[in-house]
Amino acid sequence: MKFYITFFAFILILSILIGCNVDQPTDVSTSSIPIDATSALSGGDTTILSESSHAFSTPAPNLSADALEKHLDGDLEFEAIFVTAPAEVNPGLGPIYNNITCINCHVRDGRGKPPTVDEKFVSMLFRLSLPNGENGETGQSPIPVPPIPVPGFGTQLNNRAIYGTPSEGTVIIEYSEQTLTTADGARIHLRYPDYTLTDTYKPIPENVEVSPRVAPVVFGLGLLEAIPEETILTYADEEDVNGDGISGKPNYVWDVVEKRYKLGRFGWKANQPNLLQQVASAYHDDMGLTTSLFPLENSHGQSQLKQNPTSPEVSDEILDVVTFYVQTLAVPARRDVNDPQVMHGEQLFAQAQCADCHIPTLRTGVLPGVPSVSNQTIHAYTDMLLHDMGPDLADNRPDFRASGSEWRTPPLWGIGLVRTVNGHTNFLHDGRARDLMEAILWHGGEAEKSRQMTLQMTTEERDALIAFLESL
Ligand code: HEC
Ligand code: HEC
Repeated sequence: MKFYITFFAFILILSILIGCNVDQPTDVSTSSIPIDATSALSGGDTTILSESSHAFSTPAPNLSADALEKHLDGDLEFEAIFVTAPAEVNPGLGPIYNNITCINCHVRDGRGKPPTVDEKFVSMLFRLSLPNGENGETGQSPIPVPPIPVPGFGTQLNNRAIYGTPSEGTVIIEYSEQTLTTADGARIHLRYPDYTLTDTYKPIPENVEVSPRVAPVVFGLGLLEAIPEETILTYADEEDVNGDGISGKPNYVWDVVEKRYKLGRFGWKANQPNLLQQVASAYHDDMGLTTSLFPLENSHGQSQLKQNPTSPEVSDEILDVVTFYVQTLAVPARRDVNDPQVMHGEQLFAQAQCADCHIPTLRTGVLPGVPSVSNQTIHAYTDMLLHDMGPDLADNRPDFRASGSEWRTPPLWGIGLVRTVNGHTNFLHDGRARDLMEAILWHGGEAEKSRQMTLQMTTEERDALIAFLESL
């Protein structure tokens, strides 16, 4: 008997040890990556070595045991499927919504895409608003102005609804092709999207502003939240005082907890101040779920809603673990950093001014409660600022201080793994680019020079530039 107990204890300890090894990938900074290749460690100590379809959905390797447990609790909630109330598990969906779970849009913690011809909208949504007096059509207001809700629709089109309830409507996307020719005669096709609101449950004002947005990746976000505001502001140059054609403008957006304007960091127009509010607004806007931050339904005041719930449908505990989850997903390491073609591409990236917005290296400060993302040197390739990207990319829908043609520089880390993780290569805020070169050639406005320099490159140079992006 004693032998059996000892034997079972031995097996138990063994399996815990093996389990630990599986849960906590080896410390990449000391093992498989050459020490000098620090630029491969895109997320500092949160970097993992993975080129698989799980590259975006692995916990940071430097989490403590308690932190890992909290992360895994958040992971379950991120995947939780919500249903119509009343129900035992995860009730409260809708009545109007865009999807039933976070993971359906941020597939494998990766990015969404526009639907193909026969598909419905899954991982893409449309923000709505009415033109506002302050910002006018252009939104060049020096003070932040929140988007004005469209009566009967709010600030987001909810294209799905619970049984027996009308959704708000849907959108038809039509593309037309245009061809660009590079200096050395290569032909590159761009597809221009055109969006039409249709099947709305009631007439929608003619002058409604519509902003298409695909779901971005959700790894590495705690690091971006931990970049000190002062650091981000050192790159801001709103009036382009240094005359390089690139301005960089901070968005300031409403913080519902602190009740004041704060630096915007998340969303395609930096329209959310922090991850807690980003997550709460995802529950609210995308799934029709109330929280302590947003206690009124997204359908408040509309005919679809019978009554507002008396207590939050998603608890503060769940908000907390889901926020922690998106703060602590690992960043995949770069590949092929010493490949000559990749290194050539990296030089071209700097020469073509790409690195003036997609800042290669930043240092994080301290994010309270999240030591694993604090004080890290990261290679996210963003400045977290807004840039005017020209009329072709404009959604013409201002968002706080962002004008209708301004977008936040998106981080480029992991971009070479999107194909593996998500099975597509649709880029930019509305997924119109079908590969990385198309994404570059859509750049205009402050990035027009970069675009021109890319068109002037030889095919060999363009291949090198893409090889560099693929290594991120
Ligand atoms: C219908 C699809 C959809 C659903 C469901 C959804 N998201 Fe998102 N998510 C998006 C889109 C689109 C954006 C970009 C929004 C913007 O630009 O304003 C986004 C942005 C984010 C961001 C900011 C990323 C960044 O880099 O700025 C986070 C974090 C996030 N979502 C987390 C969540 C969580 C957590 C849930 C579930 C509670 C969720 N999302 C549900 C589509 C979705
Ligand atoms: C003036 C600032 C600026 C410059 C310069 C710039 N970019 Fe960008 N880049 C952006 C912004 C802003 C976006 C997002 C635009 C959108 O989604 O509509 C973007 C998007 C991208 C994307 C798609 C990212 C995604 O997640 O969909 C890639 C790839 C990219 N840039 C690469 C480059 C390269 C390569 C260069 C140089 C040839 C370059 N950029 C120069 C600001 C800049």
